[in-house]
Amino acid sequence: MRVGKKWYRSVWFSDNKICFIDQTKLPFEFEVREAKNYKEVVSAIKSMKIRGASAIGAAGAYGIAQAFALGDRNYVKRAKLALEKSRPTARDLTCATNAVFSRAKNDPKNAVREAEKFVNNTVENCKKIGEYGKRLIRKREKNGRGAVKVLTHCNAGWLASVDWGTSLSPIYMADKDGKNVFVYVSETRPRMQGAKLTAWELSNAGIKHEIICDSASAYFMSDVDLVIVGSDRIARNGDIANKIGTLEKAIVAKEYGVPFYVASSTNSFDAKCRTGRDIPIEQRDESEVLYVDGKRVADPKSGAENPAFDVTPAEFITAIITEKGIVKPKDIKRVCEYE
Ligand code: MRU
Repeated sequence: MRVGKKWYRSVWFSDNKICFIDQTKLPFEFEVREAKNYKEVVSAIKSMKIRGASAIGAAGAYGIAQAFALGDRNYVKRAKLALEKSRPTARDLTCATNAVFSRAKNDPKNAVREAEKFVNNTVENCKKIGEYGKRLIRKREKNGRGAVKVLTHCNAGWLASVDWGTSLSPIYMADKDGKNVFVYVSETRPRMQGAKLTAWELSNAGIKHEIICDSASAYFMSDVDLVIVGSDRIARNGDIANKIGTLEKAIVAKEYGVPFYVASSTNSFDAKCRTGRDIPIEQRDESEVLYVDGKRVADPKSGAENPAFDVTPAEFITAIITEKGIVKPKDIKRVCEYE
């Protein structure tokens, strides 16, 4: 994506270093950082400087390529394990580390090329998701005229996906085609990826939007034409895991008759998860809930729960927008395994 006069991916590889936009600094500072070894990559992922399923996957792919250049096979195996453990929910991460490791293990010279291939494929997938998804950006009949209003949650834009995005890609493509689009951006407590990252991406692209509190989704839902969110992992039965709060939006959308779409590359499909109950849900530190901008906002005797993701059952999902087409949740297994 273009930022100012330059084009950026959110993660890239240069001179055997993993370069990335530090997502914890946005929207006020645009800082590019480097990771020189896998420990630094793991730290960037854990602290969410690199975040979003596909961007984490890209960091994992480059992390393996870098490890092949820096050490022997045991070093690469240690790197692989540490990268895979850095965040447990995003399936793209192990998809990436396995792909690069298995293609490069007998010919480590090829590791960087394989990682680039994997990441370029991620970007291609996101573009295709946009091409398929833009057709869904249309008014619900009862909503009359004016801009098509899309509600999204968290950030599944280009920051989260190297380029284009998953949930934002159809919006970018529709905007490129001259469609009048407006986005409700739900803020996404506790890390505020909606308010801090999605809103910044949309401002940068000149797309109309407004930030709403997470708890305001039901209030606005009757005005929404469609919901599009991303996904970190898709189970065989079409259940999906995405940022905490996604499930609530899906339930409200169903109640209001608003189509609820999940935009995701098939790299998020996990054949080992029969249903959403098998998806590992990351539990993050309670301090993210108890403190805002470094200041405690809760009684010192109160604790907090902080699941980073929730599972939306297939029955709440209208369709999954993938690089292979728009798929009913019940068909995702067939599309990912046989096509
Ligand atoms: O905890 P995060 O910010 O990494 O969570 C990100 C999301 O939930 C995204 O919607 C998901 O990773 C899809 S990004 C292509």
